Amino acid sequence: MSVPRPAAVIVLAAGEGTRMKSQTPKVLHEVCGRPLVDHMLAAARELQPGRLIVVIGHGREKVGAHLAATSPDARAVVQEEQRGTGHAVRTVLEEVGTIAGTVLVAYGDTPLLRARTLAELLARHAEEGNAVTVLTAEVPDPTGYGRIVRDPGGAVVKIVEEKDATPAERAIREMNSGIYAFDGLLLADAVKRVSTDNAQGEEYLTDVLAILREEGHRVGAFVAPDHVEVEGVNDRVQLAFARRVLNQRILEEHMRAGVTVVDPASVWVDVQVTMEPDAVIHPGTQLHGATHVQAGAQVGPATTLTDTVVGAGAVVRNAVCDNAVIGAEATVGPYVYLRPGTVLGHKAKAGTFVEMKNAKVGDRSKVPHLTYVGDATLGVDVNVGASTVFVNYDGVNKHHTTVGDAAFIGCDSSLIAPVTVGDGAYTAAGSVIDTDVPPGAIGVARARQRNIDEWVLRRRAGTRSAAAAERALAEKEQESGT
Ligand code: UD1
Ligand code: CA
Repeated sequence: MSVPRPAAVIVLAAGEGTRMKSQTPKVLHEVCGRPLVDHMLAAARELQPGRLIVVIGHGREKVGAHLAATSPDARAVVQEEQRGTGHAVRTVLEEVGTIAGTVLVAYGDTPLLRARTLAELLARHAEEGNAVTVLTAEVPDPTGYGRIVRDPGGAVVKIVEEKDATPAERAIREMNSGIYAFDGLLLADAVKRVSTDNAQGEEYLTDVLAILREEGHRVGAFVAPDHVEVEGVNDRVQLAFARRVLNQRILEEHMRAGVTVVDPASVWVDVQVTMEPDAVIHPGTQLHGATHVQAGAQVGPATTLTDTVVGAGAVVRNAVCDNAVIGAEATVGPYVYLRPGTVLGHKAKAGTFVEMKNAKVGDRSKVPHLTYVGDATLGVDVNVGASTVFVNYDGVNKHHTTVGDAAFIGCDSSLIAPVTVGDGAYTAAGSVIDTDVPPGAIGVARARQRNIDEWVLRRRAGTRSAAAAERALAEKEQESGT
C-alpha cells in the first residue's frame, strides 16, 4: 500500500481525564512501558508526517515537560480552556497557521490504534479524493460515542453526539472514533464556522463533516477492521484492558519471531523490549524498558527485569534485575537481586539469595549463596564462599573492593572496602579482611578457637545436651579401656 505522507498529525491531549481520578494527567498513564500519548505519537511517526503537533491543556506542565524531554520532533500547542475538539483544532491552526495537504487528527488516549489502520485511513482518503474521511467502527455498545449517520445510499451525512442524538440515532452502532483525515485548507476554513449550539455548548470537530458535506465536498468513512483499536482510555478499567490487549500483541509478535512464552497470560513485556529466537520466557515474568534477551536464554519463572541484558543461553530464575548485564551462559537465581551496574561475565553465577550492585564479576566466577557484592570488581574464576559480605559502606562513603583472578573467598568473609584480594589469593572462612591480601597469600583474620572442656556438664547440668555429652564421654572412656 503506497500511502501519501500527511502534512501534519494533530494529537488532541488537552482533556482532563476526570475519570482516571489521578494526580497524573491521563495521557501520561503508561501501558506496556509507554505513556498513552507516546503510543499515538509512535503510530503517527510511522506515517512520516511533515509535522507532529500535540494539543495540551490539563496538566500541561507535566505533559509539556514529558513531550519536550522525549518527543523533540513534536510541537506542543496549549489550549488554555477545553472548549471542545473543534476548538482544539482551531487553536492549533491559529497558532501554526493553515496547513495545506492532509491533516490527520487523532487522540492521545487511544493506545491500541495501529499505524497500519491510520495508513489505511489515509489511503482511502486519497483514493476517494475526500475533503474528510472519518475512521469509524461497528461496536457492540456505542454508548457515549458520537454516531455515524448515513443516508439510505450509505453516504456519511453527519456525526451526532450521544447527548444530541434522537433515539433512532442512538440505535446506530457505527461509532465515531474521533480520528479523521482532513484536507487541511478545507479544515481551516470549516473549523472557524463550527457553532457551540449543542447539548454541551462545545465546538464539536464532528460538525466539520456536516459543514463540508453541505458545501458539496466529499465526506467519507473508513470502518476499522477491529473496533478494539479505536477504544479510548477514560478510566483505569479501560487502562487495564488496553494493557492486556497491547501486551498480547507484543507477545504474539515475539512468539512469531521465535520466542517461547510458556504462559502468555502471566507474562508482561514492554514495547521496547527486544528478544532473540529461542529465548524462553517462563510464567510470572515481566520484562521492562530496554531489556534485551539473547538467543536461547531462559528467563523466569517469577522474574522482573528492567533495562537488563540477558546473554545467550543464560538462565535467570526468580530474580529482580535493574540495569544489569548478564553474560552468556551465566546463571542467576533463584532469589537474586541484581541492582544497577551489575555485570556478570560469561558463565558467571549469582546464586541463591545473592544481591549485587555496581559489581563486575569476571568470566566463570561464582557467587553461589547468601552473599552481598556491592561496589566490587571480581576477576575471572573467582569463588566466593557462602555468606560473604562486601562491606562497601562506612556510613558516609562507598568504597571499592577488588578481587583478583582465581581468588578464593572463604565462607562468611567480610571484605571491608577499600581492599584488594590479589590474584590467586585466599581468605580464610570467617575472616574480616580490611588489609590487602597479596597474590597467592591467604588472609586469616579471626580469633583462634579455644575449647573449654566439660563446660556443658558444669554449666548446663541436667539438660539434654549435658546428658548427650555424658554418654559420649563415658563411651570414650570405655573405648580407651580404662
Ligand atoms: C469525541 C467525539 C465523539 C467520538 C469520541 C471518540 C466530538 C465532539 N466528539 O467525544 O464523536 O465518538 O470522541 O472517543 O469530537 N480534547 C481536547 N480539547 C478539548 C476537548 C477534547 O484536546 O477541548 C481531547 C481530549 O483530551 C480527548 C479527545 O480530545 O483526548 C476527545 O475528547 P472528549 O471530550 O473525550 O470527546 P468525547 O466526548 O469522548
Ligand atoms: Ca473520550
